[in-house]
Amino acid sequence: MHPLRLLVLLGLVPSLGSLARAQQWRTGKVAEIFSQHCASCHGPAMQGGSAPSLLDDVWAHGGDDESLVRSIRDGYPQNNMPSWGMLFTEKEIRALVNYLHEVRTKYRYDQKPFAAPEESLSVQSKHHAYQLNTWIAGLSEPWSLTFLPGPGERAIVTEKRGQAFLIEQGRRIEPALLGLPERIESGGQGGLYDIVPHPRFLENGWLYYAFAELRTEGSMTQVRRSRLRDGAFVDTEIVFQARPDHAISGGRAHYGGRIAFDRSGYLYFSIGERGQRDHAQDLTRPNGKIHRLHDDGRIPADNPFVGHAGAVTSIWSYGHRNPQGLAVDPRTGDLFDLEHGPRGGDELNWVLRGRNYGWPVITYGIEYNGSPIAESTHQEGMEQPVTYWTPSLGVCGLNFYSGDLFPRWKHHLFFASLSGEELRRLELKEGRVVDQEVLFKGIGRLRHVIGGPDGALYALLPTRIVRITPAPEAVTVAAKAPALPPKPQ
Ligand code: HEC
Repeated sequence: MHPLRLLVLLGLVPSLGSLARAQQWRTGKVAEIFSQHCASCHGPAMQGGSAPSLLDDVWAHGGDDESLVRSIRDGYPQNNMPSWGMLFTEKEIRALVNYLHEVRTKYRYDQKPFAAPEESLSVQSKHHAYQLNTWIAGLSEPWSLTFLPGPGERAIVTEKRGQAFLIEQGRRIEPALLGLPERIESGGQGGLYDIVPHPRFLENGWLYYAFAELRTEGSMTQVRRSRLRDGAFVDTEIVFQARPDHAISGGRAHYGGRIAFDRSGYLYFSIGERGQRDHAQDLTRPNGKIHRLHDDGRIPADNPFVGHAGAVTSIWSYGHRNPQGLAVDPRTGDLFDLEHGPRGGDELNWVLRGRNYGWPVITYGIEYNGSPIAESTHQEGMEQPVTYWTPSLGVCGLNFYSGDLFPRWKHHLFFASLSGEELRRLELKEGRVVDQEVLFKGIGRLRHVIGGPDGALYALLPTRIVRITPAPEAVTVAAKAPALPPKPQ
C-alpha cells in the first residue's frame, strides 16, 4: 500500500480493523465495502440515516456518474461526508457508483412494477396501446426469427440447441429443417444463432446463418449460406470460418452470432471475445470484432485492416465484448450493435469503420465479484457508446421498426434483454438517445425482437414467440422507463 493511503486510512478510520477492510477490495465484494464504509451514515439499504438517502432522485451535488464519483472522491468534509479519494482509487470509486445504480434500479423496479402483459390484455404505453399474443408455442430457446420475402407468409426460427423450423402462415412445420451443420457446439453459450435472408433473396434464395462451430481445436463462430429446398438447407457454402488455431478450446462463452446487411449489400456479423478479453484488442484474431464481407465471403478491398501485417482482414471494428444485437438503420445505412457488459456497462454502439470500441481497456462495467476492471471509462482513440446500461440488462436482439401498424414507433429501435426480461423502445436523433421506454418486463428472458411484414412486432421468449399488435383500448398502464444513464462525454 502507498504510505499516503495507509496514513489517510489510519487517520480517517482509526481502527486496526480498517486495514482488513481496505483489503476487501482485493476480493471485490463491493456490497460489503458499502456496508462497512457507507451504511453507518447512508443506511444499510441506502435509505438514508444521518446522511441523505441515495435511493431518491434528490441529489444535492448531481446524480450523473461523474458527479457521483466526485462526491465520493472529494467528499464534503465540512458537512460530515468524508472524502474517500485517498482510500479508494478512481476505479474503485466507479465500482461503488455501479453498485449504487444496481441498488437504486432494484429499488425502483420494486416501487414501480412494469407491465407484464398477459395474453390479449391491452397495455397502454407512451405512444400506443398494444397487446401481446402467443404466435408460435412449444419452442426450445428460440434464438432468431426472420421473415422470408415472397409469397406464403414464411418465416424461419432458429433454436439455440441447433435446430431451425419453417413457419408458414403462423404454423410451425414439423419436422425441423434438414441440412444444418452437424458439428454445432451447443453447450454453454454455444448454439445456432442468427439467420438472415440476402437483400436480393427473391432472386438468389440465399439464407445466411451463424453458429458455434465445434472443431478438434475448440470452437468458434462460423457463418454459412444455404438455399431452402424441400424442407432442407441445400447448396451450402461457408462464408466465414476462422483459422483452426483461432478456435478457442477453454470456455464456451461470448460467440456473438448476429448478422446484418447494409444498404450496399455488405454482410456484417459479430463475434464476441470468447472470454479472452485481450483478444478484443488483437487485430490478428477474429474474436471481439465485427466483420464485413462481400455476400460470397470475399474480403472487401476497402476493409480497414487490409494490408496490415498479420491482421484478420474481415475486421470492420474491434474492442467488442459480446455483441448480440446488430442492426442497420434503413434510412441512413448506419450500423449499430448492442453488447453485453460484464456487471454493468451494457452498450449501444454506433459501429464505424476501423474504430476501437475499447473493451477491456475502457468499460463502464465491473467484475462480477464487484471489483473494478478498467482504469478508466474514456481513452483517446477509443469510442464511447451511444448509451450504456448499469446495471446490465443482458441486451440482445436489436432492430429498427419500419412497419405501419404502430405509426408513432416508426424508425425507433427495439431491443430485447435476457436478465432484464425487458422489451425496450429507444428513439435516436443524430446518434443520441432522445427517448427510451420499457414496454414490458418480467414475462421471461427475451432473446430477440423483429418487425414482421405485417407491421406487428415479434419477440422471442424461452419457449414461444409472441406477436405484438395494436390494442383497441388500454387497461394496464406501462410504467415509465427508469431515468436514462448520463450521456457519455
Ligand atoms: C460519516 C457519515 C458518512 C459516511 C461514512 C459516508 N457518507 Fe456520504 N454523505 C454524508 C453526508 C452527511 C452527505 C451530505 C453532504 C452534503 O450534502 O454536503 C453525504 C453525501 C454523499 C453523496 C452525495 C449525495 C448528494 O445528494 O449529492 C454521495 C454520493 C455519498 N455521500 C456517497 C457515499 C459513499 C459511497 C460512502 C461510502 C464510501 C459514503 N457516502 C460514506 C455522510 C457520510
